[in-house]
Amino acid sequence: MRILVTGKNGQLGRSIQKIVNTDTKIGNNQSPNEYIFVGKEDLDLSSESSISHYFNNNKFDIIINCAAYTQVDRAEQEAELANQINHLAVKQLASIASNQRAKLLHISTDYVFDGESNKPYTETDTLNPINVYGRTKLAGEKALQALMPMNALIIRTSWVYSEYGNNFVSTMLRLGKERDELNIVSDQIGSPTYAADLAGVILEIIRHNKFRDVAQTTQIYNYSNEGEISWHEFAKEIFKLAEIDCKGSPITTKQYPTHAKRPRNTIMKKDKIVTVFNIKISNWKSSLNTCMKILKEKQ
Ligand SMILES: NC(=O)c1ccc[n+]([C@@H]2O[C@H](COP(=O)([O-])OP(=O)(O)OC[C@H]3O[C@@H](n4cnc5c(N)ncnc54)[C@H](OP(=O)(O)O)[C@@H]3O)[C@@H](O)[C@H]2O)c1
Repeated sequence: MRILVTGKNGQLGRSIQKIVNTDTKIGNNQSPNEYIFVGKEDLDLSSESSISHYFNNNKFDIIINCAAYTQVDRAEQEAELANQINHLAVKQLASIASNQRAKLLHISTDYVFDGESNKPYTETDTLNPINVYGRTKLAGEKALQALMPMNALIIRTSWVYSEYGNNFVSTMLRLGKERDELNIVSDQIGSPTYAADLAGVILEIIRHNKFRDVAQTTQIYNYSNEGEISWHEFAKEIFKLAEIDCKGSPITTKQYPTHAKRPRNTIMKKDKIVTVFNIKISNWKSSLNTCMKILKEKQ
């Protein structure tokens, strides 16, 4: 199987590469899969012609799309670019995957919901994104489903962090060391996702018969770590594990205005992915602990 992974320099792309490289090194990789990791420099999703050109010369059995326009605030000013990458490029990938008879695994977001529900979101709950990023990601989901009613799979995830790049954990570690006190929003609730855990789940899914062998109708699955917290609680745990002496003070969303609106509550139900693919999901605290240990070793 030739498997393409986009977004090789992003959190999720790098986390998938790490597992694939480790498996190869220790000889766990018994399947004759060939993974090809690409970044913007190889396949620019903001350019229709770059995408066509790339796939004219390359054919795959599975495409895992980890690339996205992920700058939620900046997207309010760069709506066209965000739409090109998160919507139109996904539509083009779906069309290409369909023509190549490749399977497509695409990543979406909890920001397709408006966050007004008081119950955890299921995959079929009402979609009502409240910012440009969420609207472009939803348009990508819909275009993919229209062009690939079979043989694709979408995972909606939330609050992704890792030992790579910029994310909430790296920002808290940097600011927490610089300041004695930090104000952190406490009225937005969700579930963090350690990119390494999601990467492991993606690799499990693509090995699974239910994804791989049979012509399956396209499905959406929610995935995050277990547990429900606010950004404030998340920050406090980061400071505790890093032994950073910074006081995290709770503030409201109103007290922390941002360009893009954020949903209030994006907790998602994960029963579907657990049942169908028989996966185990770690609690957010234990996954954060793992990530922090890796970050400490890197220092
Ligand atoms: N981060 C979160 O909190 C979060 C939450 C919910 C869902 N998600 C979704 O999860 C997936 C993975 O996110 P992530 O956290 O790994 O994101 P990330 O770290 O921001 O990585 C995204 C990758 O997309 C690449 N990219 C951007 N523009 C591109 C273009 N024009 N052509 C090709 N590649 C381009 C970036 O390349 P450069 O590095 O070269 O810019 C980057 O490597 C995305 O679909 C995202 O929407 C993320």
